Amino acid sequence: MSFRFKMEQVAREKGSNIVLALDPFLGEPQHLLEISTRILEKVHPYICALKINRQLVLPLGLFNGMQKILKLAQEKELPTIMDCKINDVGYTNRAIAEYYFKAGFDAVIANPFVGWDEGLQPVFEVAKSKRRGVILLVYMSHKGAPEGYGQTIRDPKTERYTLQYVAFARKALEWEADGAVVGATYPEKIREVHSILKNSVPIFSPGVGAQGGEVETAVKAGARYLIVGRAITLAEDPAETARSIRDIAQNV
Ligand code: XMP
Repeated sequence: MSFRFKMEQVAREKGSNIVLALDPFLGEPQHLLEISTRILEKVHPYICALKINRQLVLPLGLFNGMQKILKLAQEKELPTIMDCKINDVGYTNRAIAEYYFKAGFDAVIANPFVGWDEGLQPVFEVAKSKRRGVILLVYMSHKGAPEGYGQTIRDPKTERYTLQYVAFARKALEWEADGAVVGATYPEKIREVHSILKNSVPIFSPGVGAQGGEVETAVKAGARYLIVGRAITLAEDPAETARSIRDIAQNV
């Protein structure tokens, strides 16, 4: 089953479009592993996927502690996304993707800035051969995002002026990406990107809660999945918070 199909199936079955960003902050590996598994055990009924960042892979080790988390996610039938923002030359990108897929991840996040030839082409090739997913950054959620993603560029193919994120959204379509990341903190960008992608590429939207993005606004603008971290992981009752965010998103 492809990553894209798996995501849709789990989201439908669980009535949830919440992707948990499991990012415990600094600590000894054993402690981080305990916190992470505890949160996942509590929250899994209310989420449709798990997103991991390098901040957890670095201390735990991809083929060490991370395996325990990936195994737990598998037991709970949750697709897993590695937020590694792949951003190098093709030879290196391919190896990075191979390792994450070998470790058990269902999808990787990549940066379209590096382009296709000798850039992300090898990542898409590896992913397609293993029926895994590639999600592209289109417009990030943080305050500085306009400095890069909001720039006006001259498209080298058409020689026309366009916006960087519009060019990235078009690449997501052309490269048949399995998702596009657009920050919930920029709902007008979600709307614009959604008008380009329509239902061909689902929008994954981080930035809800801790970064100031709002669930209803992001979903109404066209976000298919919401990536939520601290609003859930740092809550007094993570399960109850995840349930309530899920319900708000479902009722839009
Ligand atoms: P919080 O705690 O802010 O966590 O809910 C958000 C999670 O999502 C990641 N993040 C992003 N990942 N593009 C991405 O690929 C983005 O624009 C973006 N903004 C936030 C962040 O690293 C954390 O894991």
